[in-house]
Amino acid sequence: MKTLNIGIIGLGEIGQGHVDALLQVERANIVAVSDVNETVLDQTAKRLGAAGYKNYEELLAHPGLEAVVVALPDNMHRDACEKAAAAGKHILVEKPIAMNVEDSEAIINAAKAAGVKLMVGFTVRFFPQYAHARQLVQKGELGDIVSIFARRVNVITQPDRIKGRTGVMFFLGVHDFDAMRWVIGSEPVSVYCEAANSVESKYPIENETFSIVRFANGAVGCAHIGWYLPTQHPAGFDFKLDVTGNKGTLNLDMMRQGLEVYTIEGAKYPYMAAPLVAEDRAFVDCVLDDKPSPVSGEDGLVAVRMVNAALESIKTGKVVKL
Ligand SMILES: NC(=O)c1ccc[n+]([C@@H]2O[C@H](COP(=O)([O-])OP(=O)(O)OC[C@H]3O[C@@H](n4cnc5c(N)ncnc54)[C@H](O)[C@@H]3O)[C@@H](O)[C@H]2O)c1
Repeated sequence: MKTLNIGIIGLGEIGQGHVDALLQVERANIVAVSDVNETVLDQTAKRLGAAGYKNYEELLAHPGLEAVVVALPDNMHRDACEKAAAAGKHILVEKPIAMNVEDSEAIINAAKAAGVKLMVGFTVRFFPQYAHARQLVQKGELGDIVSIFARRVNVITQPDRIKGRTGVMFFLGVHDFDAMRWVIGSEPVSVYCEAANSVESKYPIENETFSIVRFANGAVGCAHIGWYLPTQHPAGFDFKLDVTGNKGTLNLDMMRQGLEVYTIEGAKYPYMAAPLVAEDRAFVDCVLDDKPSPVSGEDGLVAVRMVNAALESIKTGKVVKL
């Protein structure tokens, strides 16, 4: 069986998630990892029996390396992706592809020029529930789509964890802007967004937002994005999707996944989805079987345009055309 030799750049929260996910993907072979944090680097390299590089440019020269997962902070995606493409490596880059149009286009162009696959890590597309919702909508079971509502709310410790280096829109909102567009299969034409006062304003970033998105097919989308849940919350997140058409409606709730546990320590809704394994498998399959990227750089770019439109709308109080 042909396997894909992969390097993981960035071994933080999601980089470790990719390590665990790729270990479950039969045709994936993690050969090298990189992080500037030497403790994390050494522990992970030892655990995997893989080569460890503090400098990711050295990782890109690892013998036999074929592909990379870029799991660095958002503002470092461009440099790593351009260098990986120039070295001829296929790329799975975490969301958001970048934080502005120029960097996003530079990544897309670098991958095209090098003839390597480029996939953006929109993990939400790989939850079976979201994929099924999309299938139903695309099959016309709800009729013509009138509206779509998405909620993605995380625990209040999240901005502390990422040290306020980005706001909630690039961290979480980008997922739902992509998911809304993907589920209803229509392009966004305008965005209006209001930010509510944060429960805890430690960082000068947006923390809770309500965006209204107009789509080309006439549907209206609303995304409620925030990170205000108390740490005691039984799931640690609240993710929802409601789609309404002229023949029906669907409601998706990722918070309660069918199993609720109550003990003297409190309530717990265990997390049972494994979207990262499906996402990483889709990446490996697209490279080894030479299939189109399941989430293109252009998909990543549209979501970046939408987030930036929302951020501009918060500042100006105006509807922003895309
Ligand atoms: N798909 C998802 O659901 C999901 C979830 C979380 C984060 N993300 C995305 O993943 C990316 C990383 O986020 P995170 O939460 O894992 O961040 P993190 O801070 O937990 O991890 C980033 C890691 O990169 C390392 N790093 C920094 N500079 C480096 C360099 N020059 N070379 C090598 N390593 C370096 C840091 O030491 C750290 O370990 C972001 O773009 C974020 O938006 C995606």
